[in-house]
Amino acid sequence: MCGIVGYIGNKKALPLLIDGLKHLEYRGYDSAGVAVLGDDLNVVKTQGRIKVLEKKLKEFPLKGTLGIGHTRWATHGIPNEVNAHPHYSESKNIVVVHNGIVENYLELKKMLIKEGHNFRSETDTEVIPYLIEEFYDGNLLEAVQRALNIIEGSYAIAVIAKSEKDKLVVARNDSPLVIGLGKNENFVASDITALLPYTHKIITLENGDIAEITKKEVNIYDKQGNKIERPVQSIQWNAEDAQKGGFKHFMLKEIFEEPHVIKEAMRGRIKNDSIEIPELKNLSKDYLKNINQVFFVACGTAYHAGVVGKYLSEKYLKIPSKAEVASEFRYSDPVIDDKTLLFVISQSGETADTLAALRLGKEKGAKTIGIVNVVGSSVAREVDNVVYVHAGPEIAVASTKAYVAQVEVIGLIISYLAKSLGKLSESSERTIVKELKMLPEKAQSILDRADAIAEFVYNTTKNIEETFYIGRNLDYALSLEGALKLKEISYVHAEGYPAGELKHGPLALVTPKSLIIAIDTYAPLYKKTLSNIKEVKARKGKVLAITRKGYKDMESVADKTFYVPETIPDLSPIISVIPLQLIAYYTAESRGLDIDKPRNLAKSVTVE
Ligand code: AGP
Repeated sequence: MCGIVGYIGNKKALPLLIDGLKHLEYRGYDSAGVAVLGDDLNVVKTQGRIKVLEKKLKEFPLKGTLGIGHTRWATHGIPNEVNAHPHYSESKNIVVVHNGIVENYLELKKMLIKEGHNFRSETDTEVIPYLIEEFYDGNLLEAVQRALNIIEGSYAIAVIAKSEKDKLVVARNDSPLVIGLGKNENFVASDITALLPYTHKIITLENGDIAEITKKEVNIYDKQGNKIERPVQSIQWNAEDAQKGGFKHFMLKEIFEEPHVIKEAMRGRIKNDSIEIPELKNLSKDYLKNINQVFFVACGTAYHAGVVGKYLSEKYLKIPSKAEVASEFRYSDPVIDDKTLLFVISQSGETADTLAALRLGKEKGAKTIGIVNVVGSSVAREVDNVVYVHAGPEIAVASTKAYVAQVEVIGLIISYLAKSLGKLSESSERTIVKELKMLPEKAQSILDRADAIAEFVYNTTKNIEETFYIGRNLDYALSLEGALKLKEISYVHAEGYPAGELKHGPLALVTPKSLIIAIDTYAPLYKKTLSNIKEVKARKGKVLAITRKGYKDMESVADKTFYVPETIPDLSPIISVIPLQLIAYYTAESRGLDIDKPRNLAKSVTVE
């Protein structure tokens, strides 16, 4: 997520903007910039850390009492100075900073270029100041309202115009933005961490709100231009609480961001109920028809997303598919040629084993698709096609929201490729799209019941010595991820295992001190897994079953049943992983462990 700050008052804006951006650094970013309106409207922006920006500002000290600032987490356009925000309009009379994704930027950009406009950057954001300028006739608020009426997507924006020295206009839709109220001065920021040093009185904007801010007044309007009131809140958090949005750990905050992440991951990829992957348009039908095998290669959690991909690829593409751990793949001698499609999955895009596997696959002639979160990372730069997952910065070492986004994007890509191969009917595509659109609220309904998971964990896991996660098919893929989450943050040993395999040995380990997390959400195999749960119960193991709403007979078998909303079986991992993430979180939390920075681990393993 990008960070936005703004100031209007009687003080010098620049030091306040820089201080505000520093309070947002924790969100992760790749470039930064500021715009200040004094005698002129000036922008200074740089790639890299804020200290690089500060160094450049020493040569160009911007003077003025109205300004905006931005830390960029790239979504469209690699991290560099040209793509950094703020972005000017074409005449340089208006500047904008933006957090979010303009879904229809390509159409808008084409329209503006056709009208003779020339763009400077590769970003989606740049269409915003250009559009505002198109509509600007002396009233900035109106021009912003008209521009936002044709923009589709998520945004939090702050806008200033050279000719309106006493106004700051802001707006939000699906990206957070708060206003800080001062005495003869007002502030805006993406989150309150940047406001707390100056004020505890804040107004949180809602989706569709547009605000015109002077140093004395804040006037808020809805999309139709009607004036509306928003409550003024007094926030008593300290800065650290604010960075975590009031959550105890970044990991929990990131789990609770998942409904938003599910929405962001599909942005620009669903048009009129059809799945489109613009990044893969260059894969010809002839090429796709010639693919004779598919690999999913990654490490850790990303590998577990690849296991989901393997099942979906075989089911929908009808092509032999494998999921391989990168550290094994790179030292084996995989039989790969130009008929191999290689998916390379990585949150950071910098994992050494994954990079090495990518290079080996390319050397052998495979075409490569990167499923990556960090824009402009090494994997993103080296694959033939990169599809970003738009999960925003993931601070906690344990990957949660990135996994959800990876699985969703893999599902979208497999559906798109199946459609291109004539293996997905229009009605099936419509069904998938309809269900995808409901997933954010279904994910939220699971998070609303997080306490039930916490209670089970606190009451059950104290004396557990052995933990198994079991499932079949996609639930088996989930069992691997659930077990890893528990191990890496609570240091409790756990194993993900095919439910049908327990009787071939591990069942010997099951005692009343065993905890079995049975994942039984993949409907076609519900009864099969149910019978495996009965096997475990016969050995007195304790079972928490995670299953679909309505499968009431589970309650007579498992010690505890946690229901997840019904969805298409092949989409279930996107939401069924949430209880598993919460089990790991609350187990570690009950042990008072350093959840965001678990021992021995790094967020990105850039060595082999
Ligand atoms: C997951 O919770 C771990 N932090 C780790 O397994 C991680 O998924 C793995 O190192 C791969 O990282 P990447 O996605 O950045 O390549």
